[in-house]
Amino acid sequence: MMKIVITGASGQLGKELTQIFKDKGYEVIPLDKKQLDITNQTKIKQMMLDIQPDCLINTGAFTQVDLCETEIEKAYLINGIGPYYLACEAKEKKIKFFHISTDYVFNGEKAEPYIEEDSPNPKTIYGKSKQLGETLTLAAYENTTIIRTSWLYGHEGKNFVNIIKKLASQTQEIRVVYDQYGCPTYTKDLGLAIESLLTKPHGIYHITNSGSCSWCEFANEIVTFLKSQTVVIPVSTEEYGLKTPRPVYSVLSHKKLNSKGIFLRNWKEALHEFLKKEDDSSEN
Ligand SMILES: NC(=O)c1ccc[n+]([C@@H]2O[C@H](COP(=O)([O-])OP(=O)(O)OC[C@H]3O[C@@H](n4cnc5c(N)ncnc54)[C@H](OP(=O)(O)O)[C@@H]3O)[C@@H](O)[C@H]2O)c1
Repeated sequence: MMKIVITGASGQLGKELTQIFKDKGYEVIPLDKKQLDITNQTKIKQMMLDIQPDCLINTGAFTQVDLCETEIEKAYLINGIGPYYLACEAKEKKIKFFHISTDYVFNGEKAEPYIEEDSPNPKTIYGKSKQLGETLTLAAYENTTIIRTSWLYGHEGKNFVNIIKKLASQTQEIRVVYDQYGCPTYTKDLGLAIESLLTKPHGIYHITNSGSCSWCEFANEIVTFLKSQTVVIPVSTEEYGLKTPRPVYSVLSHKKLNSKGIFLRNWKEALHEFLKKEDDSSEN
C-alpha cells in the first residue's frame, strides 16, 4: 500500500486527510510544523531519506488572511517557497506530489464559476503567496497536482461553521456579509475526492462541495439547522468593514473533476452531516 506523508498535519485539512487515508488502509505519516517545517529544505531532504514516501501531500500553509498583509515575508516563505522545496524533492524521488491551493488566487470579478484555466489575479498577499506556491511547484515538478478549494470547515480547527455555531449559542444577532459568494467545503468530502485523485492524471483541479451561496446564506443554514433563535442580519462588505478585501465571487467550476468521474454532494447536505456529527460527538 502507498506510503503517504502529509505536511502541515495538525491543521484542519491535515487532520482530516490523515484519518481518511488511515481508514482506507494507506500507511500515513502525518508531520506537523514541529516535526517538519516546510521552509527548512535540509529537514525536508532528511525526511525523504528517512521515510521514503510514495506520495507527499502538503496542507501546510499560513492561512490567516489579515496577518499575511503585514507578515508578508512569512506568507511568501510558507505559502510559496516551502511548497517549492517539497516539489523539488518529490521530483527528485519521482513520487506523487499534491499541493493545496485556494479560490483566493482569483480576483473574484467573474460572473460564472472559475475554471482551472482562468488566470489567477489575486488581490491579497495571502492570494499572491498561494499563487506563488502554485507557480513554483509546477515549475519545479511538472507532475504536481494542485487542488484549489474554498470556504473549508472540518471538525478540528477554527472555521466559519464553528464560529457561527458558538455565536448561535451566545448572542441574539449575528451580522454576516451577504454580497460575497463562494462554496462551502466539508474537509471530509474534499479528503475523499483527493484520495480518488491519487489514481488520476496530475494537474490543477478545483474541488469544493457543489452549489454556492453567500456567507449570509451559509450562516442562516447553520442557525436554522441548530434550531437557534439567533437572527442572522445581512450586512454589505462595506458595512462589515473587513481589513483585507475578499473575492466577491469565488465559485469554482467542477467540470474537470466531474470529467474524471468525481462528484461532490451539495454544500447543504454536507453541512447537515457535519453538524449532526458534531452534535453526536458532543453528546458522547
Ligand atoms: N481554510 C480555508 O477556508 C481554506 C480555503 C481554501 C484553501 N485553503 C487551503 O487549504 C490548506 C489547508 O487549510 P486549513 O484550513 O487546514 O489550514 P490550517 O488549519 O491553518 O492548517 C495549516 C497548517 O499548516 C501549518 N503550518 C504553518 N506553517 C508551517 C510550516 N512552515 N511548516 C509546516 N506546517 C506549517 C499550521 O501550523 P500552525 O497553526 O502551528 O502555524 C497548520 O497546522 C491550505 O493550503 C490553505 O491555504 C484553506
